[in-house]
Amino acid sequence: MTKYVIITGSSGLVGSETSVFFGNKNFKVLGIDNDSRSYFFGKSASTKKMTKNLENNIKNFKSYNIDIRNIKKLENIFKKYKNKIKCIIHCAAQPSHDWASKEPLTDFSINANGTLNLLYLTNKYCKKSVFIYVSTNKVYGDLPNFLPLKEKKKRFEIKRRHKFYKGVNEEMSIDKSVHSLFGVSKTSGDLLTQEFGKNFKIKTGIFRLGCITGENHAGAELHGFLSYLFKVIKNGKKYKIFGYKGKQVRDNIHARDLANCFWNFYLKPMAGEVYNIGGGRKNSCSILEAIKMIEMQTKMKLNYEYINKNRTGDHIWYITDNSKFKKHYPKWKIRYSLKKIIKEMDVHHR
Ligand SMILES: NC(=O)c1ccc[n+]([C@@H]2O[C@H](COP(=O)([O-])OP(=O)(O)OC[C@H]3O[C@@H](n4cnc5c(N)ncnc54)[C@H](O)[C@@H]3O)[C@@H](O)[C@H]2O)c1
Repeated sequence: MTKYVIITGSSGLVGSETSVFFGNKNFKVLGIDNDSRSYFFGKSASTKKMTKNLENNIKNFKSYNIDIRNIKKLENIFKKYKNKIKCIIHCAAQPSHDWASKEPLTDFSINANGTLNLLYLTNKYCKKSVFIYVSTNKVYGDLPNFLPLKEKKKRFEIKRRHKFYKGVNEEMSIDKSVHSLFGVSKTSGDLLTQEFGKNFKIKTGIFRLGCITGENHAGAELHGFLSYLFKVIKNGKKYKIFGYKGKQVRDNIHARDLANCFWNFYLKPMAGEVYNIGGGRKNSCSILEAIKMIEMQTKMKLNYEYINKNRTGDHIWYITDNSKFKKHYPKWKIRYSLKKIIKEMDVHHR
C-alpha cells in the first residue's frame, strides 16, 4: 500500500528538509504550507520558491496551500487518505517570540489551535499513524537564565561540574518562568501532543529545539539567527546585537540531522514522548564566536551595532543535551558540524 506522510510547514526550513528526506524514503508527501512566513517577516522571507522547488524535485510531492487553522480544508485531506497516512510531521508555526507579541491572537491560533486541529483529525482518521510535533526550548521559558553562568571573554559558560554542562535535558521544569507569548502558544501545542499520546494512545513524539539552521533557511531578523547573520555579512549590511554583550550561547542543528531524527522516531515510535534535540555542546557558539567563524569562512567583515537591551525572554546560554534521544535511538547522530553548516551556507550563497 502506498504510504503517505503529511508535512505541515513543508516549505519552511524544517518542513522542506523533512519533505525531501521522507520523499527519498518512498513516501508520498502531502505538503501543507500557505506562505504565512511572508506575512510574518516580509517578502524576503517568503517560502513560495521552496514550494516550487519541492514540486519540481520530489517525485510524489503534492502541495496544499491551506491554512492549518482551517479545519474543514484539513479534514478533506485526512478524509481522502485516511489510514494510508502513516505519519504527520507538524512543522508549521508562527516561529518568533518577538513577533508573537505583535499579534497574540494570530500566534496562538496557529501554534495552539492549529496543532489541536491536526491532532483531532489524526485521532479521527488515522489513529495508528505517528505524529511528530516540532516544539521549542522556549517551553522552559527564561529558566535557563537562572543557571549559574560565568561571563568569559567571548561567551557565557556554565561550570564543568554542573549537571547541565553537557546541555539542558528534559528534567528542566516548564513552570515558574516567563515564557513569552510564543513560549505559551508552543507549550500549548507541546502539551496537547503529549496528551493525545498519553490519553488516546497515538504515537506522538515531541521534539524541543533550540536553533535549527541550514543553507535553506529564509533567515529574517526576528527568526533564524545563523542564517540571517550569514546573509547580513555576505550582503555587507549592518547587524544588530541585542544585549548580553553578544556573548549569548546557542547550539545549532542542521535541519537535515533533525529530519533524520524524525525518521528514527517514525521507525520505532513511542506515545507522548518528549525529547530535547539540538546541535549539542560541539555545535554551540556565542554571537561573537559565530561572527568570527562566518568572517573567516567568507573573508568579509561584519558591520554591527550593539543595542544594550536583550530581547524579552532571550536565553543567555542554552545548549541541548541529546542523551535521552541517543539512548532510545543509538543509530542517530549529528552529521553536520557548525563549521560544515557555515561552509554549506557559503557554497549555497554563491
Ligand atoms: N528554526 C528554529 O530555529 C526553530 C527553533 C525551535 C523550534 N522551531 C520550530 O520548528 C518548526 C519549524 O520551524 P522552521 O524554522 O522550519 O520555520 P519556518 O518559518 O521556516 O517554516 C514554517 C512554515 O510554516 C508555514 N506556516 C506558518 N503558519 C502557517 C499556517 N497557519 N498554515 C500553513 N502554513 C503555515 C510558513 O509559511 C513556513 O513556510 C516550528 O514549529 C518552530 O516553532 C524552530
